[in-house]
Amino acid sequence: MSLMESRTQTASSAPPGLAIDVVMMAAGKGTRMKSAIPKVLQMLAHMPLAGHVLSTAQALHARSVVVVTGHGAAQVEAALPAFAGQTALHFVRQEPQLGTGHAVQMAVPALPDDGQVLVLSGDVPLTRASTLQALVALSAGQHLTLLTVDLPDPTGYGRIVRNGQAVQAIVEHKDASEAQRAIGEIYGGILVAPARLLKRWVAQLDQDNAQKEFYLTDVVRIAVSEGAQVLAHKAGDALEVAGVNSAQHLAELERAYQHRVAQDLLAQGVRLKDPARIDVRGSLVCGADVDIDVNCLFEGRVVLGDGVRIGANCMLSDCTVEAGAEILPFCHIEGLGTGVRVGAGARVGPFARLRPGAELGEDVHIGNFVEVKNASLARGAKANHLAYLGDATVGERVNFGAGSITANYDGANKHRTVIEADVHVGSNCVLVAPIHLGAGGTIGAGSTITKDTAAGALTVARGKQVAITHWKRAVKQPKA
Ligand code: UD1
Ligand code: MG
Repeated sequence: MSLMESRTQTASSAPPGLAIDVVMMAAGKGTRMKSAIPKVLQMLAHMPLAGHVLSTAQALHARSVVVVTGHGAAQVEAALPAFAGQTALHFVRQEPQLGTGHAVQMAVPALPDDGQVLVLSGDVPLTRASTLQALVALSAGQHLTLLTVDLPDPTGYGRIVRNGQAVQAIVEHKDASEAQRAIGEIYGGILVAPARLLKRWVAQLDQDNAQKEFYLTDVVRIAVSEGAQVLAHKAGDALEVAGVNSAQHLAELERAYQHRVAQDLLAQGVRLKDPARIDVRGSLVCGADVDIDVNCLFEGRVVLGDGVRIGANCMLSDCTVEAGAEILPFCHIEGLGTGVRVGAGARVGPFARLRPGAELGEDVHIGNFVEVKNASLARGAKANHLAYLGDATVGERVNFGAGSITANYDGANKHRTVIEADVHVGSNCVLVAPIHLGAGGTIGAGSTITKDTAAGALTVARGKQVAITHWKRAVKQPKA
């Protein structure tokens, strides 16, 4: 099976050259989000915006990430370590927030002198690791290098002022002349520079501008005044530098992200019935010849083997579906960290629910309105209609009848049901756990089984059928 990750941006080993220390600016308030949640913790594809930035930093093999916090600092500091992986994470607080240059000044004490600093924003989630790699490569451990992009409407952004090819300055919109406002190339908010130089430059910033802020962008003018060459790398796509400022932006970037994931899946050969109707909130790893019908949602880590087919309107989280298995429409598979495994050639659904710890062996069939939780079903076992299997071990070829359940909970504790190979459980049975059904036995329909059953035997536990021949059905009385 060829495994391709859809979210993880892979880079095999640490690149040569200076170590990368990231400064992630995350102090802004995000007033326009109209939310009590700090902006960088707003979720995109089930991960905080700043979590996306941290995973990009990991793909770059950053040595450390210094997060500049301010608004909602305590919440941000509590949430982000879960997304840092092996990367060393430091927090510095910026109080009050006096601009992007001030934010980097706050980070300076946490930045080693021997590295290169990559400045990112916690609210810009869709920058590709490959773009940042190109930016870092252009900088070559020596030059201040900016990520820029051409925009049809550059209103509000810092403009890239060049003299010939050479970058001379970034002029903020509010400080720009009419002629400068006509420039379509803007600063994307991301730069890289050797730490030693950047530290020297940010120490020289002032607030002498329209917004009375310390502009990080003024380091360009300072560098140029020292005779340094400033370089720019143009991103092909405005999404790479797009920030989130409102619920509208968040929704737009969510769609853009999902579009990107769908295109990546198609490029791997995954057959999506409609690339506009799939949502991947985590990582989706697909083998060859995988088919995914419309309106499917994938969360956490989902692995689909060769030839797997997923019907319309399914939701899958933290699960592995092995080669050739088929999930019919409207299934809910929720591994929730514990995981669910669907064995090769198995058939699940429509309308089935597999909960954490469900383990289906090869060629198992789970039909409509069947719920499986913390239960294993061995090869060829079937539960085709309206059943509950919880805390159970089910042997090969067992047939679990319609409407039958394991009564696994006594009101205080959970107990296990063991059903040996080739047992046939009739319809509408209640198996009161703990209980053990011997191999090859048959359980008569409608039985409530409270004692272990013998191998090969027919066990029936229900009221005997009686016939009352002279019985008369009540007759409706005429109204008075
Ligand atoms: C900045 C750039 C502008 C560029 C634009 C790209 C400056 C002066 N201008 O504009 O040239 O085109 O980004 O989006 O840098 N932040 C802090 N502390 C602060 C101020 C901001 O942490 O004191 C954080 C914000 O939370 C945000 C990031 O820095 O994550 C950028 O700030 P923002 O106000 O969005 O940048 P702009 O001033 O719009
Ligand atoms: Mg600003």
